[in-house]
Amino acid sequence: MKLFDVYPVNDITITKAQGSHVWDDEGTQYLDLYGGHAVISIGHTHPHYVQRLTDQLNKVGFYSNSIHIPLQQQLAEKLGKVSGKEDYQLFLVNSGAEANENALKLASFYNGRKKIIAFKKAFHGRTSLAVAATDNPKIVAPVNETDNVVFLPWEDLAALEDAFNKYEVSSVIIEGIQGVGGINVASPAFLQKIRSLCDQHNAVFIADSVQCGYGRSGKFFSHDHAGVNADIYTMAKGMGNGFPIGGIIIAPKFKPAYGMLGTTFGGNHLACAAALAVLEVIEKDNLIANAENVGNYLMEELRKFPEVKEVRGKGLMIGIELPEELSHVRRELLFTYKIFTGEAKPNVIRLLPSLALTKDHADQFLTAFKQALKPVHA
Ligand SMILES: Cc1ncc(COP(=O)(O)O)c(C=O)c1O
Repeated sequence: MKLFDVYPVNDITITKAQGSHVWDDEGTQYLDLYGGHAVISIGHTHPHYVQRLTDQLNKVGFYSNSIHIPLQQQLAEKLGKVSGKEDYQLFLVNSGAEANENALKLASFYNGRKKIIAFKKAFHGRTSLAVAATDNPKIVAPVNETDNVVFLPWEDLAALEDAFNKYEVSSVIIEGIQGVGGINVASPAFLQKIRSLCDQHNAVFIADSVQCGYGRSGKFFSHDHAGVNADIYTMAKGMGNGFPIGGIIIAPKFKPAYGMLGTTFGGNHLACAAALAVLEVIEKDNLIANAENVGNYLMEELRKFPEVKEVRGKGLMIGIELPEELSHVRRELLFTYKIFTGEAKPNVIRLLPSLALTKDHADQFLTAFKQALKPVHA
C-alpha cells in the first residue's frame, strides 16, 4: 500500500530527539525552533514526561469515558491552577480541529443560533465546521461550504459592530495570535471589543488557543495579554508535548447535559498522564516566564537586522517577515545551518520552539540567521 501523498516533506528522517534538538538517521544534530509545528512545549523526550507516560502505560493505557478516570479530574485541577481559570470546566478531545468543532457546537447549543464570525487569514482546523471557519477556500470541500460563517477583516472594529447588528451571532472565534495566517497579534482593543459585543448580544467568545496558547505567548492564553476572559478556550498542540490530546475549557455559565458532547479517545489515561506531565514541567521549570524572556530577547535582536521587514509575535511565537529576495533563508537555515523553523505564506519564518529554549539556543539561531541572510550566489 502507498501513503496518500498530501505532505510536501523535507528529505530528513528524525530518529532521536532531546530537549530542543533532534538528530537524523545519519547522526546529524538539528536545533529545533519549529517543535513539530508548535507541539513540543516542554522539550523532546523530557525525562519526567517519559517516566510519567511509561508508568501510566504499565498500569492502564486506555479505557473509555464509561468509567471514572481520576486523572481527568487531576488534569482539570492542575490546568485550572496553571491557567488561572479555576472556575471553568474541562472537556477533553484529541486534536485542535476537534476542540474548535466542539466549541462551535457548544456555543450553538447554548444560544440556539447558527452564525459564526471568523476572521480573514484564520486557521481553525480541517473538520467540517472548523474548516468552514478557516479562511482558505483550497481546503474547504463543497460539503463543508456553509452560509453560517462570516469572515471579517482583522482588527476592523466597525465591521464587527455592523456584523453584530446584521446577524444573530452565535459565536466569534479568534486566534489571539494568528499562526498559519503569518503571526498576527490581535490588539487588546480588538479582543476587548469582541468581549463587549459578545456580552451585549449573548454571543459566545471562543479563543482558539490551539497554537498561541499553553504558555507560548508568555502568558497561559495569549488572549490574557488583553485582560479579557473568553467563554471557551480551545487547546491542543503543546498540551501533550506530542501525545495527541486537545481540550476545551468552558465558562461556568454553560451547563452540561449527558450526551451533549462526546468522544471515544478523548481524556484517556495515557493522554491525561502526558498532559499532567506537561503542566508539571511548565510549573516546576517556570517555562511561561522563560518563553517571555527568551522570546523578548529574540525579537529585540531580530528587529536589529535591517534586512528584516517586520518581526511580529509574543513570547516564543515569532514571525520574521522577509522580503521576496530573501525567500531562500528558511531552506538555508535547515540544510546549511541545521535549524528547523516553520513558515507562513508568502515569506514569513515562524519560530515555534519548545518553551524551554535557552538564550544560548537563541544566540545560535541569531548567528546562523545572520549568515543565512547573505545573498545566495548562483
Ligand atoms: C490556531 C489553530 N487552530 C486549530 C488547528 C488545528 O489543529 P489540529 O491540526 O490539531 O487539528 C491549528 C493547527 O495548526 C491551529 O494552528
